[in-house]
Parts: sequence; C-alpha cells; structure tokens
Amino acid sequence: HANQQWGGRFSEPTDQFVAKFTASIDFDKRLYRQDISGSLAHAAMLNKVGILTDQELSDIQQGLQDIQTAIEAGEIEWSVALEDIHMNIEARLTDRIGITGKKLHTGRSRNDQIATDIRLYLRDEIDVICQEITRLQQNLANLAEQETETIMPGFTHLQTAQPVTFGHHLMAWFEMLSRDYERLQDCRKRVNISPLGAAALAGTTYPIDREFTAQQLGFSKPSENSLDSVSDRDFAIEFCSAASLIMTHLSRISEELILWTSAQFNFIELPDRFCTGSSIMPQKKNPDVPELVRGKTGRITGHLISLLTLMKSQPLAYNKDNQEDKEPLFDTVDNLKGCLRAYADMVPAIKANKESMYEAAKRGFSTATDLADYLVKKQMPFRDAHEVVGKAVAYGIAQNKDLSEMSLEELQQFSNTIEQDVFDVLTLEGSVNVRNHIGGTAPAQVKAAIERARELLASR
Ligand code: ARG
Repeated sequence: HANQQWGGRFSEPTDQFVAKFTASIDFDKRLYRQDISGSLAHAAMLNKVGILTDQELSDIQQGLQDIQTAIEAGEIEWSVALEDIHMNIEARLTDRIGITGKKLHTGRSRNDQIATDIRLYLRDEIDVICQEITRLQQNLANLAEQETETIMPGFTHLQTAQPVTFGHHLMAWFEMLSRDYERLQDCRKRVNISPLGAAALAGTTYPIDREFTAQQLGFSKPSENSLDSVSDRDFAIEFCSAASLIMTHLSRISEELILWTSAQFNFIELPDRFCTGSSIMPQKKNPDVPELVRGKTGRITGHLISLLTLMKSQPLAYNKDNQEDKEPLFDTVDNLKGCLRAYADMVPAIKANKESMYEAAKRGFSTATDLADYLVKKQMPFRDAHEVVGKAVAYGIAQNKDLSEMSLEELQQFSNTIEQDVFDVLTLEGSVNVRNHIGGTAPAQVKAAIERARELLASR
C-alpha cells in the first residue's frame, strides 16, 4: 500500500526495493524507548500549551505505554513499509487509539525526533560506559596495590631501560583511562541538549514550550538554532572520537598483555577462562581476549572515519545521509562496552610472575643509569659517566654478568671513583626506591598515587 504517512502527494506506491533500501527500522528499532519518551514529553507539552485536551493526552500516554509493553513482550511486528521507528510507533498508536494518534505529530518532525532519540540513547550509554571505565580503573588500582613492590624492566623502544614497579605500570594504564573518562563526561555535556521543537528545520508555528520538553527529558537546555539542531551530528562524532581513543588505549594494553604472556617474556598469567586453546597444538593457551580487543580497535576507529566522512559535505539542514549515522554509532557503543567489560572482569585475575619479571630486569643492565648518576654525584661530568658505564656494560655483556654481579675490583677497572657504596645503587630495589617523587616508580610513590586514585574514583 502507498505509504499512509505521506500518501496524499503521491500517485504511485513506493517501489518495493526502494522501500527496503530506504528503511531504517531494522536498526533504529532499538531506539523505541527513547522514541516513546520523546513522544510522551512532546504530548505533555502539547497539552500544556492547549493543543491536546487532557483526554487526548491521557489516550496518547496510555497508547504509548501499551506499545512499549507490547514491544518488550516481542508482540510488535515491525513494518518496512513504515520505514523507521518513528512511523512504526505512530501508526501503531493510531491503530490503538484512533484519530487522536494522528495528532501526536503536531509541531514536530521526524528530523527533530530522531535527533532527540539519538541524544537520549547516547547520553544513557555514556553513563553505562563511564561506569565500566570506573570498574576497570578500580580493578587496576586493586591489582596495583598488590604489586607496588614487584620489580620489572621498564622499556623504551621495547629495549630494557630502567627498572620500574609493576604497580607503577598498572597505574599508567589507570591514568590513560582517567583522561578517557573526562573526555566522555565533557562530550556528555554537548550530547545532553534538546533538539526537540526544531521540527523539520525552521521551527514550528505552534506555541511550543521547548524548555518544558527539554526538562521533561532531562536535557540541560533546548538547542539554540533549529537548522543546526536537526543537522548536527558532531556530538556523535565526538563520542566516536573519545571511543576510538579508549580503544587505542585498550589496544596498547592488549599488546603488552599479549607480549607478557608469551613464553619469551613470561611476565604474567591470564586466567584460563579468558583464553582459548588450539585445535592442533596441545601446548597452546592463546590470549584471545586481548587480541580481539586489539582487533576491534580498527573497527571502532573506522566508525569514527565513517561519521566524519558522512558529515563532511552535507548542506544544512537535515539530509537522509544522516540515517547512516546509526549503525556505526550503535556498533561503537556495543563493542566498546564489550571490551571494557571483558577487561574489567579479567584484570583482577591477572597473575604476575614476579620471579621472571625480576630476572628480566636484572638481565638488561637496567641499573646502568643509576651507576652513571652515582658517578655524577661523585663529581664526574654526566657525559664522562655515560662513557664509563657504557664500557662496564660492554664488559658485562662479554662476561655475561649484570652490573650488580661484578666485584668492586671489576668495576674499578672503569673508574677508580667507584667505591663499596656503589652496590646500594646497583640493586633493582635501590634503583626503584630512589625515584621517590610525585609520579616516580618508588613503591612509596605508587602507594600514594593509588591513594589519590581511590579518592578520584570515590568522587565520581
Ligand atoms: N530514519 C531517519 C534517520 O535516521 C529519520 C529521520 C527521517 N527524516 C526524513 N525527513 N526523512 O535519520
């Protein structure tokens, strides 16, 4: 049948394929709750300003609530001919309550309706995502607390650089996620603005009360400009950008976890329930979860690029192009939530192989900088100290000995400034303990950082 929503102007029904091609119901049906909330707020406003009678309002309210119940009971069959969630619900409403259903769309367009729906959806999802980030951060801080004294090699260029504590490394991840959390909170401010009332593009001739609908829906205020309201999707782009950064962070964490579980590093053990085996190689235990998270980063970054490209040439105001915003946005939300959940669940079960970490830190001459600093404190210029220690390291490589394993005589071959007290700085413990300032790797500082982190989480 000809589309009943605009049949008036048309002399033939929509082509069957075009109807399917242009329909969005298959994916925007997930916005049914937001769509109904928006309609309830709009109807209440129409009543407040005298456009709907009390009876009409209560019929609409009852009808919409019944539809929501029916949707949740799986009793609604979505119609492609009705194109999208908005027209599907409106048509059901009219089926149920008759002519009053046809009055709901007074002073409104699907353009401000969809903009409202996505903002409501995204606002709620941002809140869920922020809770998951917080849970992950809590678990990182808990694990860090158990590992403040655990020494491992710190890397630059993936080459052993200086010893750090595992707790310090975990708290670096915590910091990355703190900025991600802030970015989402900031994005939420721009998401939480009401486009309802912009109508198709220019506003409406009815005496609508936009403050009222904004308040009903928990938005901070009505949007300023009707043209911008129906065409802007930069809030979604901003969200996808924040999501891409979160994924970039999770991907970096993944990369480290994957390396560390390899036999060559053997720094950590992931719980069996987060890994899978091989159908052919009996010895295998693969870090599938981190690998999949790393892989999903490409997909989410791809969605950001999709949305940027979708917007780049659109003239004001609404264009059908914008229907293409939903699938990338939904997929970003779903996958981001999945990755955060998997990580928040997995982190408490990570086991540090303290012995291996310690041995690895010893093997890479990680206290070479400490020896150079020791010589500088005994008045040697830093460049000369660098040279002396370089020679000692070359000797150590040839002799297969760490600096701390050399005798005083052996060390004195490179400089007679070296005395017995050198062994206090050559140990891994000495090396980390002495980096004792805000942001340093010393266990005392990591404990203080964890305390501040806990306060931060408690303030959310
Ligand atoms: N399905 C549309 C979308 O997702 C809803 C708004 C349609 N408006 C219109 N004038 N075609 O953007």
